[in-house]
Amino acid sequence: MGSSSGSCDYSFKILLIGDSGVGKSSLLVTFISNSVQHLSPTIGVDFKIKQLIVGGKRLKLTIWDTVTSSLAYHVYIAAGQERFRTVTSSYYRAAQGIILVYDVTRRESFTNLADVWAKEVELYSTNQDCIKMLVGNKVDRDIEREVTREEGIALAQEHKCIFIECSAKTQQNVQQCFEELALKILEVPSLLEEGSTVVKRNSLKQKQVHKAPSGGCCS
Ligand code: GTP
Repeated sequence: MGSSSGSCDYSFKILLIGDSGVGKSSLLVTFISNSVQHLSPTIGVDFKIKQLIVGGKRLKLTIWDTVTSSLAYHVYIAAGQERFRTVTSSYYRAAQGIILVYDVTRRESFTNLADVWAKEVELYSTNQDCIKMLVGNKVDRDIEREVTREEGIALAQEHKCIFIECSAKTQQNVQQCFEELALKILEVPSLLEEGSTVVKRNSLKQKQVHKAPSGGCCS
């Protein structure tokens, strides 16, 4: 689904972070395929590509779905602090957009955004201008709600994030979530420059591959 590099104006890297089970993979799959599917927990890091037109621009979004904090912790234990920092910082490096997801029916996933995830973003994100978005997922389960919309808005303001509530299950606001983020990225000149540099670099690479001799040995 839109996975070829094709021709586009800008290419952006987007990250999805938040506690395990909040619905990161579901949001991603719903956005990519416009359908709801049952998923098993993400092991390691997964990414998907979607091409779309936003604000009259052809965009290629590479959306990364994270390791959960517990898995990251195991990487930390297994690999030692330095390796952990390398893995984590390479994940955050050069992201133009970061989506912080919580589950509106699980208060702990909301408090962890401030206590754990926002701190990790501050520590590892290399992009000062990166656009952050706070997403309250699972609004279809409104009677089980533990986090109000007002609390979500307040946290978003505190951390300078855009805010949206959605449901990966009913698809409510999922498309809008990614499109709003892309629109905000398009408003920032430094992010636009990065996005077009990636496109130019990729098309140069493709040209070089096409020019390479088909047989014989390489130097
Ligand atoms: P990890 O891969 O462990 O990090 O979890 P995740 O954040 O990617 O969550 P995932 O998408 O795997 O969803 C966890 C569970 O919540 C699954 O059973 C989903 O079907 C369910 N779920 C996800 N989004 C929604 C939603 O909007 N509404 C409801 N009711 N359930 C949802």
